[in-house]
Parts: sequence; C-alpha cells; structure tokens
Amino acid sequence: MAFLTGRIKPVNKFITFEGIEGSGKSTQIELAVAYLREKAIPCVVTREPTGTDIGMKIADILFKREHGHLCAEAELLLFCAARAQHVRTVIQPALREGKVVLCDRFSDATYAYQGAGRGLDREIIRIINDYSAVHTRPDLTLLFDLPVEAGLKRATARNNRLDDPAASDRFERETLEFHRRIREGYLEILKNSPERFRLIDADRNIDAIQEDVRRHISALIKQ
Ligand code: TMP
Repeated sequence: MAFLTGRIKPVNKFITFEGIEGSGKSTQIELAVAYLREKAIPCVVTREPTGTDIGMKIADILFKREHGHLCAEAELLLFCAARAQHVRTVIQPALREGKVVLCDRFSDATYAYQGAGRGLDREIIRIINDYSAVHTRPDLTLLFDLPVEAGLKRATARNNRLDDPAASDRFERETLEFHRRIREGYLEILKNSPERFRLIDADRNIDAIQEDVRRHISALIKQ
C-alpha cells in the first residue's frame, strides 16, 4: 500500500457534485472525503462560488435576498468571475500536486441554473465559462437527482434549523417552475455527456447514496 511505503501515488482527478436544491450533495461530499482520507488518497474539497476569499465576497452579492433586482447576465458573470479565481488559485494547483479535487458544483451548474433556469443563451455561457474555467473539465460528475418538491422540502427543513428561519437565499425562493427547469437542464446535460456523468437517485437514505458515490469514485481512481 502506497502510504506504508511512504510514497503516495498522485491521482489528480477532478470530481464534481451537482444537483438541485436539497439534493444532499454537500453531505455526500463530506462522506466521500472521509472515504478518500481513509484510503490515504490526498484530496481537496472545495465549492462554488465560495471556494476562495474572493468567491465569498461575490457570493455575498449573488445570494442576498435584497439583491432580487440582480439581472441574469450579471449573475452569470459573477458566478464565472468566482470560477476564474477558483480554477486558477485552488483547482488547478491541487490537480498539479496530484490531488483528487472534490468540488460542490462547477460549470454544469451554470448551464443548468443560468442556462435552463434563467434562459440565457448556451453559446454565450459556453464562451464565458470556457474562458473562466480555462477549459477545465471534470473527470467525473455525480448528479444527485430527485423530484423538485422533495428537494425543496429538504432545503426548507435545513433552513428552519438555522438561527435565522428566513435564511433561504435568492435561489431557494424561486418558483417551482424555475427549479423544474434546472432539474430538466441537468438531465439534458447528462444525456449529452454520458461518459462523464453518473446519475444518482438522491431520494434514498444517506448510506445507500454514499455506497453509489464510493463505487463511482473507486472506479475512477483505479483507472
Ligand atoms: P449550494 O451549492 O449550496 O446549493 O448553493 C449554490 C447556489 O448557487 C445554488 O442555488 C446554485 C447556484 N449556482 C448557480 O446558479 N450557478 C452556478 O454556476 C453555481 C456554481 C451555483
């Protein structure tokens, strides 16, 4: 075993976690990190848009409920600005160091939310996103899928547990129709890139979902 001989094999794989609100992907990432650490595989866990200090400031603009007047085009550019910083200062350096990078949302979220959800032109998104992401593409994307109603119910229950019960952000307060378009958008992207995506039924218990997550990650890092 690599860690017993003192030599750790570089794995440099980029894995993204995607899904609608309340799909449980953040819990699943935490469990996946525990799994990689058990196996002594060097990894970095990060998220968009808040994976850098600059991204945190951008998120402040993006999510505040009083920013309801933020236009869709500015929203797209802000997510991509956060991505530009994140890819260059966190994701690419970690991959160069031979680490597995687990990222909670990435470019697919922009196609699903700003493309399918807000109705922005896909070709414009592609150009801006490629520039921001320096053409960085995940090796594996796990899409956590469940009915929109079930996801939003979970997201609301999570917010009610927070100190501020009205904590839902600009996105969680959108219409059911908006979230349905996002789910459909994700399923469409998956259909167009079946080699990269794995669809995970997220309407099950945490352990059953994690079993699938570990199976897909092991298959990738053994390659
Ligand atoms: P979450 O990952 O905690 O759910 O929060 C991120 C929110 O930002 C979520 O509502 C999806 C949204 N989002 C976009 O609309 N476009 C993007 O490109 C990204 C990364 C996230």
